[in-house]
Amino acid sequence: MESFYGKKFVVCSAWPYVNAVPHLGTVLHLLGADIYVRYLTLRGADVISATGSDCHGTPISVAALNEGVSPQELVEKNHEKIVSLLEKWNINLNYSKTANPFHYKWVQDFYHRSYENGYIFSEEIEQLYCEYDEQFLPDRFVEGKCPYCGTAGARGDQCDAPNCGKPLNPIELLDPLCKICGKSPKVKPTTQWYYDFSQFQEILEKYIRQNHQLPENARRFSENILEEGIKPRTLTRDLSWGIPADKAIPGAEGKSIYVWLEAVLGYVSASAELGVNKYNDPDFWKKYWLDQSTRTIFFIGKDNIFFHTLLFPALLLGVKDSYGAPFVLPYNVSTTEFLLFDEQKFSKSLGIGIWIDDAAELLPTDYWRYYLAATRPEIRDSTFLWEDFEQRINSDLNDVLGNYIHRVLVLLHKYFEGKIPECHRLDKDDRDFVEVINAIPDTVAEYFDQFEFRKAVNAIIEFTRAANGYLSLKEPWKTIETDKTSVETTLSLCTQSLRSLAILLAPILPSICTTLWSILNQEGEVHNQLLENAGKLILQPGTTVKESEPLFFKIEILELQNKLKKLREEKLKMKSNKTIKSTTKKSDLIPLEDFQKIDIRIGTIIAVEKIPKADKLLKLQINLGSEVGNRQIVAGIATFREPKKLIGQRIVVIINLEPATIRGVQSEGMLLAAVDGKKLGLLVPDIEVSNGTRIS
Ligand code: MF3
Ligand code: ZN
Repeated sequence: MESFYGKKFVVCSAWPYVNAVPHLGTVLHLLGADIYVRYLTLRGADVISATGSDCHGTPISVAALNEGVSPQELVEKNHEKIVSLLEKWNINLNYSKTANPFHYKWVQDFYHRSYENGYIFSEEIEQLYCEYDEQFLPDRFVEGKCPYCGTAGARGDQCDAPNCGKPLNPIELLDPLCKICGKSPKVKPTTQWYYDFSQFQEILEKYIRQNHQLPENARRFSENILEEGIKPRTLTRDLSWGIPADKAIPGAEGKSIYVWLEAVLGYVSASAELGVNKYNDPDFWKKYWLDQSTRTIFFIGKDNIFFHTLLFPALLLGVKDSYGAPFVLPYNVSTTEFLLFDEQKFSKSLGIGIWIDDAAELLPTDYWRYYLAATRPEIRDSTFLWEDFEQRINSDLNDVLGNYIHRVLVLLHKYFEGKIPECHRLDKDDRDFVEVINAIPDTVAEYFDQFEFRKAVNAIIEFTRAANGYLSLKEPWKTIETDKTSVETTLSLCTQSLRSLAILLAPILPSICTTLWSILNQEGEVHNQLLENAGKLILQPGTTVKESEPLFFKIEILELQNKLKKLREEKLKMKSNKTIKSTTKKSDLIPLEDFQKIDIRIGTIIAVEKIPKADKLLKLQINLGSEVGNRQIVAGIATFREPKKLIGQRIVVIINLEPATIRGVQSEGMLLAAVDGKKLGLLVPDIEVSNGTRIS
C-alpha cells in the first residue's frame, strides 16, 4: 500500500444542475466522490472536496420560466432542498453553489487573467434569435436535429445520442426550434467572446497521453476530440441569468459567461471559499491546486468528459502562473457510463427512474449507497432493475453481511456474556483466516486506487463469505462443551473481523458502520480509523460487545414499488396545489375569511336609465329579494347592452361595497361581468334561484 499519509487530494464531483432533485444516475458522481473522500480519509490523506449546485445555464432559466419564479428563487429553494437530501444520504462533501457571490468574483478575476494572457477574443457572429420571445437562443433554449448523427431532439450545446455526444453550437442544429415557444428562430448577428482552446492542442495531447489514470472511456473520447482539432468556443452568452462578463472582459457589457466555462471553475472557487469560511485563509486553496504533487480527482458521467479532460485543463493552463505557480492538472477523471432505469434513460416527465428524495423515504440510504457502489457503471451502461436490487440487498447485505455479524454477536453473548475472548494457539484454519484478515485492506485499497468500486465492494463481500465459512467450519456450537479454548480463539478472530468490516465498509455504509463500531464498543469514530489497521488484530480481549438486533432487513420489491407509487401520487397532489399558487403570486393570495367578507347576491334588474354625458354608464335598479330590498347601482355596460333589453335580466351583485358616487349618481353595489375584448358576459346562475340568494 503506497503511503497516502499527509498526501494532498482534492476530490470533486460533477455539479448537479439545481433545477431538479438528483436521481440515482446523478447522485452516482456525488456518491463516488463521497465514498472516495471517506476512503482517502481512512488512508490518512489530507483531503478536501469540492462540488455544489450548478445554478446557471439554460436548464435553470427554462425551469424557472416554467415554474413562474425568478431563477434566483428557484436556485435558493432547490439548493436548500438538495443540501438536506445529501445529508440524508450521508454525502458529506464541501457543497457550494455557483450562484454565490464568492464564485462570481473568483470567475471574473480568473477570466480577467486569461484575457490579459491573450486567450480571449471577440467576433461578430450569427446566432439564433427568437423574434417572438425577443431573445437569443443559446444552448438548451433551442433543440433540433444533430448535424453529426441526425438524431432529433439534440440540444444547442450537445447531442445526447449515446454514440454521438458531440458538443454543438446552436447554429449548427438542423431544423432548430425555440424551446420557449416552439417556433422557428431566425439568424441574427451579435458579438460574442471566445476562448481560444486551439492554442492548447499540443499540450492537451501530451497531457492525455501521459495521464495513465484516465479510464478507457474518457481517454477514447478525449483523443477523438483532439484528433478533430480542438476549436475556440464561445465564452459569453446573451443571457441575463449568469455571471456578468464585463467585469472580466472589457466591452462585454450585457453578456454573461457560459455556464460550462464557469461551473468547472467552481472546483477551485469552492476550495477557496472553504478556505475563507472554515480556516479564514484566502490562500488555503493554493496549497492544493498550485502544488504539482496534489492529486485532483473528478467523478463524472460520460456526457461530461470533454469539459473535464480538455476544457478545464486548458482553462487552468491559460492563467499560467499568475496566481504564483501553475495549476495541477486533473490526476484522474473517473468517468462512469450511464445508469439506466429498466433499460431506459431517467426521465422526470415520463416518471422513469428513482429520485434521491423518494429513495430516502423507501429505505435506509446505506442500502442505496451499497447498490450504487456495487453496480457502478464503470465499463458499460448498467441498468437499475428492481429484481436485481432486491437480490443484491437481500443476498449481499442481509444474508452474507448481516447474517455473519449477527451470528458472531449472538455467539459472543451466548458463550461469553458479550466479552471478547482471548486468542490462544492458532491451528491451520485459524492461521488461514488470520491471513485473510491481514490481506483484505491491501486488496480493497488497490481497487479503490484504481477507481474500481465494484471490485472493492465485491472483495469485501467475498471476505465476509470467507469469514462466515471459517465460522461454519469451526462449529463452535459443537465444541463449546469439549474445547472452550478453541471456541475462544474462533470467536476472538471473528470479532476482530467485524472490526475489519466496520472500517472497510465505512466509506460505503457510513451509517451502519457507525452503529457497528459502537456495538463493538470502540473508541473514536470508525471514519477516522486507518484502513491499514483494518487488517490487524487489535481488539482488546475483555471488551464487552453490545447486544444488537440484526443490522439489515430483507426487502420486498412489490412493497417498495407500492410505497413509491404512493409517494409519487402524494407529490403530484402537492404539485397541482403549487400550480394554482404559481398562477397567482404568493403575495396576491388572500385568506378565505377575506373572501367570505364579500356579500354577493342574486338579483334582477327592474329599471334602467342612461346617465347624461356618460356614454358607458347605466343607472340600474335591482331587486335583491326581501332581506336586502331594492338597490341602485351604476354599471359601465352601456356600450354592450341596449338598456331596454336589460329589464328582467338576472345578475350577480356585490352588495357590501362602500357606496360610491359616480357622475353624481349614487351606486350601492357592483354587478359581476366578464369583459372579453369587445364582448361582455353577465354572470348568472345556471338554474333559477330566487333574488337575494347569497353566493358562497
Ligand atoms: N451540471 C452539469 C451536468 O449536470 C455538470 C457540471 S460539472 C461542472 O451535466 F464541473 F461543470 F460543474
Ligand atoms: Zn420562441
